[in-house]
Amino acid sequence: MAFPPDFTWGAATAAYQIEGAWDEDGRKPSIWDVFSAEPGKIWNGDTGKTACDHYHRFREDVALMKELGLPAYRFSIAWPRILPDGRGKINQKGLDFYSSLVDELLSAGIEPWVTLYHWDLPQVLQEQGGWLNPAIIDAFVEYTQAVVGALGDRVKHWMTFNEPQCFIGLSLQQGVQAPGLKLPASSITKAVHHVLVAHGKAVDVLRARGGSDYCIGIVPTTQTMIPATESPQDIEAARRATFCHTSVRPIIWTLSLFTDPLFLGTYPSDILEVIEKDLPQGWEKDMSLINRKIDFCGINLYSGKRLHADAQGNPVMNPVPAGFPQTAIKWFVEDETLRWCPRFIHERYKIPVVIAENGLSMTDWVHLDGKVHDPQRIDYTHRYLRGLHKAIEDGAEIKGYFHWSLMDNFEWSEGYKERFGLVYVDFATQKRTIKDSGYWYKEVIQSNGSLITG
Ligand code: BGC
Repeated sequence: MAFPPDFTWGAATAAYQIEGAWDEDGRKPSIWDVFSAEPGKIWNGDTGKTACDHYHRFREDVALMKELGLPAYRFSIAWPRILPDGRGKINQKGLDFYSSLVDELLSAGIEPWVTLYHWDLPQVLQEQGGWLNPAIIDAFVEYTQAVVGALGDRVKHWMTFNEPQCFIGLSLQQGVQAPGLKLPASSITKAVHHVLVAHGKAVDVLRARGGSDYCIGIVPTTQTMIPATESPQDIEAARRATFCHTSVRPIIWTLSLFTDPLFLGTYPSDILEVIEKDLPQGWEKDMSLINRKIDFCGINLYSGKRLHADAQGNPVMNPVPAGFPQTAIKWFVEDETLRWCPRFIHERYKIPVVIAENGLSMTDWVHLDGKVHDPQRIDYTHRYLRGLHKAIEDGAEIKGYFHWSLMDNFEWSEGYKERFGLVYVDFATQKRTIKDSGYWYKEVIQSNGSLITG
């Protein structure tokens, strides 16, 4: 099944997960350096101090991307490299690193897709209240200006935030990711609003520099709600479960908390009822800023849940059948994960969708023949791309797909236990080995998806 002719294929990473060089060339600690140094926070006591040593090996890594035939590469910028003190003095060496990376990518024919914020807040800003302090909005603007000033002549694809649900929900509410706080709902609401305003202001900075030449997006995440059958009732129940607040799911995990303000300029009424009392004073006047026109909605999707409609049309979760397929990190393999959520987003907001991350962790190792055979990754990706193609057939405008991840890396609180890469990394020697799935994905790209069969 061929994908649209202008479809973008790529792979993704994030700064803290691959770069290492945590204290080099002027970089100062991020919240992840501090959190991972605390005993018991990360599996095996792992940290991102060295990670994939990409900071020193980026040329080798771009060569690997070229070998994989990647037309596009999504990566993030480390704020603590650019503004080590959060604000103020720009660290030229930090900018130089990304500038060289961008040059290397472009000379390899690979389009850079830059995420401004993938969770590694400068620790010094956290100490001033982080996303709870409204001053962070101007700090983010300053950071965006610095990055765009240095890379804006060559980078055309931009994403402001990666998964605000996670860096607020997991980090500030559940306390399982940096900075590991367990704040009350009232604080969470303020953090959400500040992130949304920071997004809007960053979009203004980007637009002022690149106008309509720039392709700008943001990347939320969710679990896809999959209708158990294609009856109109089940589809409607899945749509409702995607966008409506339900008592079984904390508000922070309801997609529309972010996507309605971003694309409709309003908080959803069922959510507003609960959070209005905690929104910062004068929040209404921020809504048009949050609702700035952007070019795509990125979405990170890994797994889904099946549900059906009851007699009243309410969504009811289906039980998971015994022995249902799972990845190494124990996320269910649901073939239609990339079908329904992108379709619902496109229908509700009429905005093109980019799958900014999708992939799986597996228990990969180097086999006796020196290769990494990972048939599950091939099968999973095949199934998921088939689902994505169905979304396109259903009429959804899907612009691209980025596999997570380019290479095995630091999987946050799971340390190096989970391997998500198309490229295997031996963390003791830093030797990279392209997995079977990497070679398979190369063929998928070369065939513009024709290799994906029904
Ligand atoms: C994040 C990545 C992460 C991946 C797998 C996403 O939530 O954006 O940084 O490694 O999922 O857990």
